Amino acid sequence: MKIDISRYKQIVVLTGAGVSAASGIRTYRGKDGVWQEYDVQVYGHVDRLEDNPKKIWQLFGQLRDQLKTAKPNIAHYTLAALEQNLRPDQQFTLITQNVDGLHQQAGSANVIELHGTIRKTRCANPDCDLAPVDDDNAHTEEAPRCPSCGGVLRPDIVLFGEQIPALPSWQSKKALRECDLFLSIGTSGVVSPASNFVRSAQYVGARTIYVNLDPMLPRNPAFQEEYLGRAEELLPALFSV
Ligand code: OAD
Repeated sequence: MKIDISRYKQIVVLTGAGVSAASGIRTYRGKDGVWQEYDVQVYGHVDRLEDNPKKIWQLFGQLRDQLKTAKPNIAHYTLAALEQNLRPDQQFTLITQNVDGLHQQAGSANVIELHGTIRKTRCANPDCDLAPVDDDNAHTEEAPRCPSCGGVLRPDIVLFGEQIPALPSWQSKKALRECDLFLSIGTSGVVSPASNFVRSAQYVGARTIYVNLDPMLPRNPAFQEEYLGRAEELLPALFSV
């Protein structure tokens, strides 16, 4: 079964950790998931920036180290090729929950990083004027301090207990309002707001497609179609690019 992309004007793709699995990046949930090994309250919650920021860096610093050698896989490249081969009257928006930057590395251009990026570091102090900076230092030994205000520095990602920043939130809503094709790829669909996007897409009458290794549990009726398998195998088969 092929998806004929030429029939659609506003394509929105939502991705999650499953898309980066073939690049050697661990998913968060499931048998070998990050949150099986690391307690999310200790290593992933925003409150730790105040009392134990080293834990945040211990976990997410490892991802920075992995990204020194990780490469995009065929799932990333297929999505990039889809965007590059569109007609001028078609729009493609890739909303990703991934913080690894592999979509952009594969050539995707219109990417909304809903959960931020691990590739940048910023100050945890909201009143500090330090701009986010590119940083590939893992800082796994000690949380770095801000050169401007002396506060703690943090990876530029959205932690548990935090809101999605206004810009990616608004950009996602805008894309969803107009979409006629919506695909969710490699995400367990348990983290909001991304988990609700399919309902917005359904509401505006889009074709809604779920692509994942595992079936959704419980089944979300807002999805019209479900394709089960590895994104890196299914995506080239679903789209002729
Ligand atoms: P999860 O780890 O929750 O889900 C990954 C999904 O990918 C699972 O449903 C797997 O079955 C599926 N999967 C695994 N390998 C796959 C493959 N090769 N092809 C297709 N699917 C595959 O990851 P997310 O849904 O992305 O937040 O998690 C959402 C957020 O929760 C993350 O962004 C992260 C996490 O806590 C932050 O770190 C800010």
